[in-house]
Amino acid sequence: MAKAYAGIVGIGAYVPEKRLTNHDLEKMVDTSDEWIRTRTGIVERRIVEGDIATSDLAVPAAKAALLDAGIGVDDVDLILATTSTPDMIFPSTACLIQKKLGIKNCAAFDLQAACTGFVYGLAVASQFIETGMYKTVLLIGADAFTKHINWKDRGTCILFGDGAGAVVLQQVEEGYGVLGSYLDADGKGSDLLKIPAGGSLQPGNEFTVKNGLHYVQMNGNEVFKFAVRILPEAATKVLNEVGLSIDDVDYLIPHQANMRIITAAAERLGIKQEKIAVNIEMYGNTSTASIPLALNDLYKSNRIKKGDILLFVGFGAGLTWGANVVKWAIKGD
Ligand code: UT7
Repeated sequence: MAKAYAGIVGIGAYVPEKRLTNHDLEKMVDTSDEWIRTRTGIVERRIVEGDIATSDLAVPAAKAALLDAGIGVDDVDLILATTSTPDMIFPSTACLIQKKLGIKNCAAFDLQAACTGFVYGLAVASQFIETGMYKTVLLIGADAFTKHINWKDRGTCILFGDGAGAVVLQQVEEGYGVLGSYLDADGKGSDLLKIPAGGSLQPGNEFTVKNGLHYVQMNGNEVFKFAVRILPEAATKVLNEVGLSIDDVDYLIPHQANMRIITAAAERLGIKQEKIAVNIEMYGNTSTASIPLALNDLYKSNRIKKGDILLFVGFGAGLTWGANVVKWAIKGD
């Protein structure tokens, strides 16, 4: 049987209304707009308020992606939600999204690969199409990291923002769509970035709350060094796998963690700045949502044309990292 090609046929994104600027943060912790801009490239981020949860970010993004693809909710065979800030430990956020979208029958599950979630998710989701098991997969990257932030920790609270991006995957014409994916992990780095409490190891209790173990903890320096090394490495590996070079890439869409990581990796890769999708200044690090949010901005500004080669590269807690090469299958306006 000939291989089926899985491609993105619709995109949507959503960020919460509330903006938290660097100047707002100056009033909360010992930091400055100047420090945050120069050390990270972030100017503001969007944050959820009250009882808004990850699924509430995912649903509008999913609806926008389905509308863009020109299909209804009942066409969806599988919802694959990538998140490391699920609404609850269980049921899965994918099932909560299914309920909110009003989809009667479809498979639904979560995939957790932290900030690499969307890259992992695309690799997994595309295989359901390639094998012929499903016709339509709704892949969502959604995180509400600010719900787990210690607003007194200037090493983390300045970085993260909330948001969601969604894509619809279906079979596309031969030679288009996801051309290849590369995924990797190294659990030895699992202590570098984590939320220690709330799982089976340390369920939430008075002790964990008193000691702030339910907050994001990060060794920023070590993660930074890892990211600068791994981003070009993952990009090169996936390009080699599909027989392309960096010169064939029309757009690099990296995880938006820190502008200095993106710039250093771009230099190592030898790719020009204008070929890199960057929106970190507006949203900060939105974890698994950052790649689809950047893709959505690029797409909505009509800069991607059919046949363009896109390179997604993610990295994050786990440690996890990976990359996908996509030949764009949607015809432009
Ligand atoms: O998405 C998952 C992956 N996450 C990441 O990729 C994050 C990677 N790491 C980073 O982006 C950076 O490490 C940070 C932005 C978190 C920190 O930047 P840095 O350049 O690595 O700063 P640093 O931790 O080496 O700290 C340099 C100085 C220190 O002061 P001293 O010891 O030199 O006096 C810090 O205390 O900057 C200080 N500092 C701050 N100053 C003002 C740290 N955070 C802040 C802050 N405002 N928010």
